[in-house]
Amino acid sequence: MDDKQLMECALKMRDMSYCPYSGFSVGAALLTESGKIYTGCNIENAGFSSTNCAERTAFFKAVSEGEQKYKKIAIAGGKKGEAPTEYTYPCGVCRQVMKEFCNDSFEIISVITTEDFTKKTLGELFPFGFGPDNL
Ligand code: THU
Repeated sequence: MDDKQLMECALKMRDMSYCPYSGFSVGAALLTESGKIYTGCNIENAGFSSTNCAERTAFFKAVSEGEQKYKKIAIAGGKKGEAPTEYTYPCGVCRQVMKEFCNDSFEIISVITTEDFTKKTLGELFPFGFGPDNL
């Protein structure tokens, strides 16, 4: 599994997004240490706070299938039905979920196209966070 394939999965998962309220579709593809991919999309809700982001969908699918070690995640977001035009980075809640399972070197790839992307680490996006090691 190379980064290009992971990014393609994230881009494709935008088609599965349920986003009638924001009109902003997000896809994610999470690569486990064992080499499997768990995908996710954002799933909105009329009670807005019940919305689940694409990243958390992917993480929760993976954890519920018994996978807890992760290498990297690719994320693509943009106006529904249109190609992404900006880099999408995980919200604070998703960063906190990542912190539970990943160390600072976990890689977060934000995708516009498979040729136009950024790579950040969790340590860069969520410094001084609170995680399992703090308890
Ligand atoms: N969203 C994600 O799924 N992931 C992100 O990284 C940013 C935001 C979703 C939540 C909501 O459904 C929509 O995008 C607009 O905030």
